[in-house]
Amino acid sequence: MPGIKVRTDSLLECKRAGEKIVMVTAYDYPSGRLTDEAGVDVVLVGDSLGNVALGFQDTIPVTLDQMVHHTAAVRRGVKRALLVSDMPFMTYKGSVEEALRNCARLVQQGGAEAVKLEGGVEIAPTIERLTRAGIPVMGHLGLTPQSIHALGGYTVQGKRPDAAQRLRDDALALQEAGCFSMVLECMPWELAEEISRSLVVPTIGIGAGGGCDGQVLVLGDLIGLTTGKLPRFVKQYAQVGQTIREAVGQYAREVRTREYPDSEHAYGTRNSGA
Ligand code: KIV
Repeated sequence: MPGIKVRTDSLLECKRAGEKIVMVTAYDYPSGRLTDEAGVDVVLVGDSLGNVALGFQDTIPVTLDQMVHHTAAVRRGVKRALLVSDMPFMTYKGSVEEALRNCARLVQQGGAEAVKLEGGVEIAPTIERLTRAGIPVMGHLGLTPQSIHALGGYTVQGKRPDAAQRLRDDALALQEAGCFSMVLECMPWELAEEISRSLVVPTIGIGAGGGCDGQVLVLGDLIGLTTGKLPRFVKQYAQVGQTIREAVGQYAREVRTREYPDSEHAYGTRNSGA
């Protein structure tokens, strides 16, 4: 879809045309701008913000205020891609009214064009109400990091027949409730492929094989900013962390040896970072 503004319907058209959907996360203005310029279809302000950008252990401490703040920053950088933002832990499961109020903040104050919610059948009434209110919803099934304590760890979901059936039922419930697409995270590829084929709406996989209608990766993982052990499904396309370390190290050496600033870089103003 080069050049044309991506909307929720565009993802459905991609699925119909057999074109893969590309989604990636972003958390601030530069990452929003650069991922948009790279031509992805969907930019997700994921609540992986917590572990990737804010230094938390997991996504649970992330607040709605933080999501609104970071979504608004990404919004300023994204022109063409569809901008989706994650509803954080416990901001949409208390009551439908609370979910409506909180989702409205991400759209109105953050500038999100759609929200992503984790969960299955149990949140279908909330999704129905949100879509009726004009807020497009992306679902998220499988390994849902906000439920990490209930799931018992970061493990592949839907391996047992009963668990696989629950995921099939959840996927159908999300589609019927009005989701325009859904993320399938960490499940056997055969199951993700079967669910993808059974749905009209597109699925976007992460750690769920190539049978989904699109793929999503966390930006820090794919560009080599994330530290520690990476999941097996991550492919790194750059080593930006190493580049930053080397560049800043070189700068520090040059300041200490008085090589910087030299005559070429001595003066000037810095009035715009854009
Ligand atoms: O928070 C996030 O980044 C996500 C993606 C991994 C799908 O939910």
